[in-house]
Amino acid sequence: MRTSEADVDAAVEILRAGGVIGLPTETVYGLAADASSDAAVEEIFRIKGRPSGHPLIVHLAGVESRTGWVARWPAEADALSALWPGPITLVVPAGPQVSRVVTGGRDTVAIRVPDHPVALAVLERFGGGLAAPSANRFGRVSPTTADDVRDDLHDAVPLVLDGGPSEVGLESTIVSLIGEPRLLRPGGVPVELVEELLGRAVPVADAEDRSAPGTLPSHYAPRAKVELVAEQAVVTRAIAHRDRGRTVAVLVGEGGEAPDGVHVLRSPDDPRERARLLYRRLREADAAGAEVMVTSLPAEAGLGRAVADRLRRAAHRD
Ligand code: TXA
Ligand code: MG
Repeated sequence: MRTSEADVDAAVEILRAGGVIGLPTETVYGLAADASSDAAVEEIFRIKGRPSGHPLIVHLAGVESRTGWVARWPAEADALSALWPGPITLVVPAGPQVSRVVTGGRDTVAIRVPDHPVALAVLERFGGGLAAPSANRFGRVSPTTADDVRDDLHDAVPLVLDGGPSEVGLESTIVSLIGEPRLLRPGGVPVELVEELLGRAVPVADAEDRSAPGTLPSHYAPRAKVELVAEQAVVTRAIAHRDRGRTVAVLVGEGGEAPDGVHVLRSPDDPRERARLLYRRLREADAAGAEVMVTSLPAEAGLGRAVADRLRRAAHRD
């Protein structure tokens, strides 16, 4: 662990004073502040450049810490909290502790227990809940290392704890337990596992429920324009861009062809590794100065569903 006990103490001191820190989690790095303080949470929105009214996830040290943060704990929450600490977030009725700035005025709250030793050490010592969106500027690729956070936010946060590269590499799965269970965002826990634990199908929330941000059609976007084509068309498409004088990258599997004059970014064939490295590769496309990145979507099963979701959002232009 690159973070010392003294760093954890310093982080807790900043949080107690109403400040914001960069916090490693197993999914992506978060921008964390006291979830019971309106002023502290407003500071997150200011740093991120995120429109207010967009609700944030409250991170807790354990499921037993939920008192005060939730108003009701449905039976499905009992079943799914077996995955904590881990990359799943549950939306339930909000308790009195939650700042209204966190929920954007809603009477529901998103809760998660992160599976990262540094995040858990900070949460345990802090003793409360931490609101934390991904630590990137609004609409950009989420950070999976402390350096990514510093690249995006520079000196806007006084302290970024370094917990090494995030092991999951994309955001948590979000399940709403308001009414029938609904998938709000595919993520680090495959929805198939959620369905198995609940013993029922968990459909994607309808458009009305999905108006929550993080579920905007355009999100998680690198500077490079992302183009999605069929797998066998990736190289031809990239060559066409190259021949028109564009700086182009392809994101292809381990065995994918590597044409001259094209930046080749490799996506591991193993689904976990592919998910873990997705945001890294998007950042590498930008670092290579790519104007366009051509790739194809994985099969929409298991973690492939979250990878496909993020690629589609990265490709979306308003
Ligand atoms: O993996 C993660 O979940 C990361 C790490 C830092 O924990 N956090 C993260 O936060 O992805 P953020 O702010 O980028 O996404 C949170 C999303 C919101 O965009 C929204 O879609 C949903 O959680 N959300 C939060 N509160 C909600 C609520 N009360 N009702 C419905 N959706 C909610
Ligand atoms: Mg985010």
